[in-house]
Amino acid sequence: MALLDIKNIDVSYGKRATVQGCSIELDQGQICSVVGESGSGKTTVIRAVLGLLPGGGKVTSGDIVYDGKSLLTLNKRQWRALRGHDISMIFQDSGAMMNQTRLIGNSFVEYIRTHEAIPKQDAWKKGAEMLSRMRLPDPDRIMRSYPFQLSGGMRQRVGIAMGMTYRPKLLLADEPTSALDVTTQAQIVRQMMELRDEYGTSIIVVTHDIGVAAYMADKVVVMKDGRIEDQGPREYILNASTNAYTRRLIGAVPSLGGKRYV
Ligand SMILES: Nc1ncnc2c1ncn2[C@@H]1O[C@H](COP(=O)(O)OP(=O)(O)OP(=O)(O)O)[C@@H](O)[C@H]1O
Ligand SMILES: [Mg+2]
Repeated sequence: MALLDIKNIDVSYGKRATVQGCSIELDQGQICSVVGESGSGKTTVIRAVLGLLPGGGKVTSGDIVYDGKSLLTLNKRQWRALRGHDISMIFQDSGAMMNQTRLIGNSFVEYIRTHEAIPKQDAWKKGAEMLSRMRLPDPDRIMRSYPFQLSGGMRQRVGIAMGMTYRPKLLLADEPTSALDVTTQAQIVRQMMELRDEYGTSIIVVTHDIGVAAYMADKVVVMKDGRIEDQGPREYILNASTNAYTRRLIGAVPSLGGKRYV
C-alpha cells in the first residue's frame, strides 16, 4: 500500500477547477518531484495534501489517503496532531514563516511543546540537539538568535531541522531551495536526501528546477495547466518519455543527460 495516495482530485478556489484529475502515489522512502511552469497547480496540490488551501480553496472530488486514512475528513484536532509530526512541510522561505520577534530557540520550544508535554528546558535541549544532528554549526548560538540574524540559507536549514524533529513519515517541500544560492541549494538537497536514507521519509518536492528534480527524485510528475501532463520513474521522464512538453522542459537544461547535477 502506498504511504500517500492522491486519487484523482479536483481542487478549486471558486467555480472553476484549478487542478483537475490529479493522481500521485508515493511509497514509503520514495522521493517524488513535481515540476511544471508557474501557475500549473503545484503548490495547490501540496497544500491540498496538507489541508492548508488558502482563500476558500477546496478539494471538490477524489480523495487523499495517507497511511490508509482519508485526510479530507480530519478535524482540526486530528490535523494538529498529524501536521508537524507525521507530516512536515517546508516552504520557499521557511524563515519568513517564523515569528521574527522571538528567539529561534523559543519558537522551537513552542513547536516541540505543541507535540509533547515536556518542560521548557528539555524542549530547548531537544531543539539544540536537532540543530546539531542536522549539522548546523554552533546550535546554541542559533537557538539564541532571532531569525533576521541568520542568513536565508541558515534559516531554511533551521526550518528543515524543526520539521524533522519527529522524523516525519512524509515531507512536503514547496520550492525549498529556489530562494538560495547554488551552494546552499546543494546542501539542502543533500540534507533532504539524507532524511530519506536515514529515516525512510517519503518526500514530495515541488521545484521549478528540473535539474534538482532529476537529481533527487525516484519519480517525476510534470504538471501543466492544472493537470498532470506526464509522470513516471526518473529514468523514464529523463530519457524515454515522448511527451512533447516533458521533452521541452528537459531540453531547456543543457546539463541534464550529463552527470551529477549538485
Ligand atoms: N488563493 C488563491 N485563490 C484563487 N486562486 C488561486 C489561489 N492560489 C492559487 N490560485 C490559482 O491557482 C492556479 C495554480 O496556482 P499554484 O500556486 O498552485 O501554481 P504553482 O504551480 O505553484 O505556480 P508557481 O510555480 O508560480 O508557484 C493559478 O492559476 C493561481 O492563480
Ligand atoms: Mg507554487
